[in-house]
Formats: sequence, C-alpha cells, structure tokens
Amino acid sequence: MDRKPRLWITRRLSDATLERARRDYETVVNDEDHPGTAEEIIAASAEFDAIIPCHSEIFNADVVRRLAPRLKIVANHSVGVDHCDLPALKERGIVVTNTPDVLSDATAEIAMLLMLGAARHAIAGDRIVRSGAWSNWSPSFMVGKQVTGARLGIVGMGRVGRAFATKARGFDMEIHYYNRRPLTSEQAFGAIYHESVESLLGVSDFLSLHCPAGPETTNLMNEDRFGLLPMGAVVVNTARGALIDEDGLLRAIGTGRVAAAGLDCFKVEPGGNPAFSAHENIFMLPHIGSATTRTRDAMGFRALDNLDSFFAGRTPKDML
Ligand code: DGY
Repeated sequence: MDRKPRLWITRRLSDATLERARRDYETVVNDEDHPGTAEEIIAASAEFDAIIPCHSEIFNADVVRRLAPRLKIVANHSVGVDHCDLPALKERGIVVTNTPDVLSDATAEIAMLLMLGAARHAIAGDRIVRSGAWSNWSPSFMVGKQVTGARLGIVGMGRVGRAFATKARGFDMEIHYYNRRPLTSEQAFGAIYHESVESLLGVSDFLSLHCPAGPETTNLMNEDRFGLLPMGAVVVNTARGALIDEDGLLRAIGTGRVAAAGLDCFKVEPGGNPAFSAHENIFMLPHIGSATTRTRDAMGFRALDNLDSFFAGRTPKDML
C-alpha cells in the first residue's frame, strides 16, 4: 500500500496507543467513546482497511455478512473474542487478532482483590465505616473465610489462570485446576489436575473462573454445579458473565452453599445484575480486570503490533 492504511479505533484507547496509531496509520478515533453500533461498524468497513475494536463492539454473523470488502483486519484490543463470530469473519477472509499475555497479571490482581474482598466482607465493612454506622466491635463481628492455606479451584489454566495461581501460591493456597489438557509439570508447579469440572468443584473452597466464553462454557456454573461446591465456598469470576447462571448463583448464595462471590463480569454489561445489589456478600466491579495504565498501553501496543505485521505482509503474532 502506498498510502497509510486507514484505521478506525472504536473507543478511547490509551494516549500512548493513540499517539502511535496516529503516527503510523490514517487514524480516526471514536472520541465520544460509546460502543460502536452494528450500523457504525458496517459503515466503517467501507471506509477503513482496519478496525481496532474492544469487546464492546459486536461482530456477529449478521454484522459480518454486511461488512464491505475494504475491511481486511479486526485487531481486537482484548484477549476475549466472544464478541466476534470467528468462523463468519474467516469465511469473509477478514483477519482477526487479540491481545493475549499482556493483561494476565492485571486480571489476576483483580481476581485476587475480589477473592479477598468477598472472603473478608469488604463491601459491608466499607459501608459500615463510611456511613458512620460502626458503633460496636466484637470477636464475632464480620468473621470471614480465611484464604491462606485454603483449597483453590481454577477453571481454565491459560495465561490468566496461571498468573492467578502464581499469586495464590503467595497465600499458600493448595491449587487444583480443570483445563482441557493437563499442564506440563513445569507449568503446573504442583497444581493438581482434575479431569472434570465436577471433580474440581468438590475441592474448591475458593473457585475462580478463567476460561473463555463460548457455546461449551455458557452457564458453566449452573445451579447443579454450584451445589457440588463445599458449603460456604467463595466464587470469583473475572472472565466473562456468560460463564455463570446468575439466578443459580443467587440461589446458591441463598442456601449458603456459596458464602460470597467476587464478580468483575456480568451477563448484562454495562449495568450488571440489579438482583445482586441486595447482597453485600457479592463484591462487584465493572469489568476492570485489565484496567491499569501499564496494561492498557500494552494492549494497545499489542493490537498495533498485529496491525503492523499484517500491513507489512507478515502473519500477525496473535492471529486467531
Ligand atoms: C479482555 O481483554 O477480554 C478484557 O475482558 C477486556 O476487554
């Protein structure tokens, strides 16, 4: 290409990312920073060679079918790609990339925050102090569940699951996991493999979800599976809301099977589940697992690295 490729960036990415994008591409940024609608994506495909979307832009089969032939690459600013119909994009010959690795630590940090906060009454404790309602102290006040030395079940031992396991080892947790394949012993660092989710749940005093969303994992944690957890388990989700049957979680909270939950992802985003708000033992964050300055820059740079490779005629490192 003689001219610079035209790039549409759907959201307000980090300043460093935008500076580099503007230097190397003829870049248009959605400065209003609203999620790109189907019509906006389709219109952009006629004017741009490349799009950097976030998980907020939905490339479903209908959208993909209506994309103009000009669009050559969708370089996602996310590791998760459940917002993209990958087979449909492949059929249209559109290259798709994501941003693995660079957000694993930031996401694992949020999982740790949620696990500790859920286990130790962070929401109720903060409310009581902040509101001035803290008028008493007793040895039986706000007694939580100890993390140190407890059993932790991880579903999905990809990059984020392994980063979380590394942090949990700092709390001497006994790590169990379910994964499509067992890890090598160097990767597992002593973590115990389970051949089924059911087997894992039985030992998961703490459970953390780190697998991608897709048809096989939709409602992975349903009411029956919550029932397999040890009484008083703590459940953490920093992956995708689709993994949890939210009514099933509420019922498990109601029976005490699940003592507390820490959630960064919800079925409906933005917004979350209003029914969760009545439960102070559900510690919630608004999908900010990867939201640190360093990680946002790294995600943006990784997406641009993928674009650079593509437009230089090489296979992008993170091509799916
Ligand atoms: C991801 O990268 O998938 C995060 O959820 C942010 O989009």
